[in-house]
Amino acid sequence: MPGEVQRGLEDVVALESRICFIDGREGRLLYRGYDIRDLAAHATFEEVAYLLWHGRLPTAAELGELKRQLEALRSVPDELVRELYELPMGANPMDVLRTAVSALAIYEPEQAGPGPSSIGGAQHLTAALPTILGAYHRRRMQLPDLVPRPGLSHAAYLVYALLNREPTELEARAVEVALILHADHDLNASTFAARVTASTLSDLYSAVTSAVGALKGPLHGGANERVVELLEEIGTPEKVEGAVRAKLARHERIMGFGHRVYKVEDPRATILREWSRRLGEAKGNLRYYRLLEKMVEVVHREKGLYPNLDLYSGSVYTLLGVPIDLFTPVFAASRVVGWTAHVLEEYDDLRLIRPVSRYVGPTDLVYAPVGERS
Ligand code: COA
Repeated sequence: MPGEVQRGLEDVVALESRICFIDGREGRLLYRGYDIRDLAAHATFEEVAYLLWHGRLPTAAELGELKRQLEALRSVPDELVRELYELPMGANPMDVLRTAVSALAIYEPEQAGPGPSSIGGAQHLTAALPTILGAYHRRRMQLPDLVPRPGLSHAAYLVYALLNREPTELEARAVEVALILHADHDLNASTFAARVTASTLSDLYSAVTSAVGALKGPLHGGANERVVELLEEIGTPEKVEGAVRAKLARHERIMGFGHRVYKVEDPRATILREWSRRLGEAKGNLRYYRLLEKMVEVVHREKGLYPNLDLYSGSVYTLLGVPIDLFTPVFAASRVVGWTAHVLEEYDDLRLIRPVSRYVGPTDLVYAPVGERS
């Protein structure tokens, strides 16, 4: 008989993993044993990708090789680009991304076999997601079509693909840090969705398609979009107090605050706050930073809640010129590394994930032919 129901699988330990450790009481986050603060201060996104996939930091030669591979894997089949151009230009970019990831599998049947060879698919998806997003976004904004631009880091290529311009050094590092901070977070909903799919011995592309669908939901990937919408609505720091108190009085949630796991400040928020300030200073636009600081003060005083990563990521992307509906796709372009690392770990120690439910419906109904039903 099934035991006690844990709604939302809260606090259920579903499996053992060596990828990501979160201590919600101390506000610590580790990737493969390395503190996120250390990685955000010193590592590149490519190094973090290698670390998450392989379980250790790369040597200089291995890192050079990975960078070359990722750059070479940025292209996607012309047929897929044509398919993207056929999609309605008003589509939700997360729907476009989900469709493209799913379609890519059809062009790469050799990557479809689950197992260690899926690392090739992990690298291609990571390299190609900015290309997919850039191809679609440029077409809908009537920007020039995306053409290869060699020599860019993954973060700089993402900015170039989306915005048709190369970032400054500071902008590129700000995006890189944001990508590092979003790369993995244990068994969050989308990663769990990816692992469930992989655990049936389905292929990596199907697992990532499941994950993109799960990330799309506003309870998971979409909070930073709402934060920026709220900031635009509030307008000036003097109006923050009244706006936040009014929302709380109506029992509305303030996006970017609170966390299921962290009971103190999300360590990723601490790091990204600094980048929001640095970028704001460099652009002579501290408006978002000041609004956010006032919000942090009021929400903590009124509700005792701490900010999470989503409070600051939207301000960083907005300062770069990334439109709001691309925030969640940019999240996906980073989390794909975590999803695929988890899929590879699942293949390595596979056990079909199949929980049970507690049935609470009737058990004694008798079938009646359709003509006899009222
Ligand atoms: N704004 C206002 N109140 C909040 C809040 C928020 N962002 N987050 C939690 N609370 C309040 C709840 O209303 C509840 O108050 P009550 O006890 O007076 O009813 C209390 O804090 C506990 O909330 P609960 O939903 O049980 O906490 P949780 O740990 O399950 O929620 C989140 C975690 C992330 C779902 C929640 O904090 C939230 O909705 N945050 C906003 C969305 C967001 O930023 N998501 C990104 C997460 S990285």
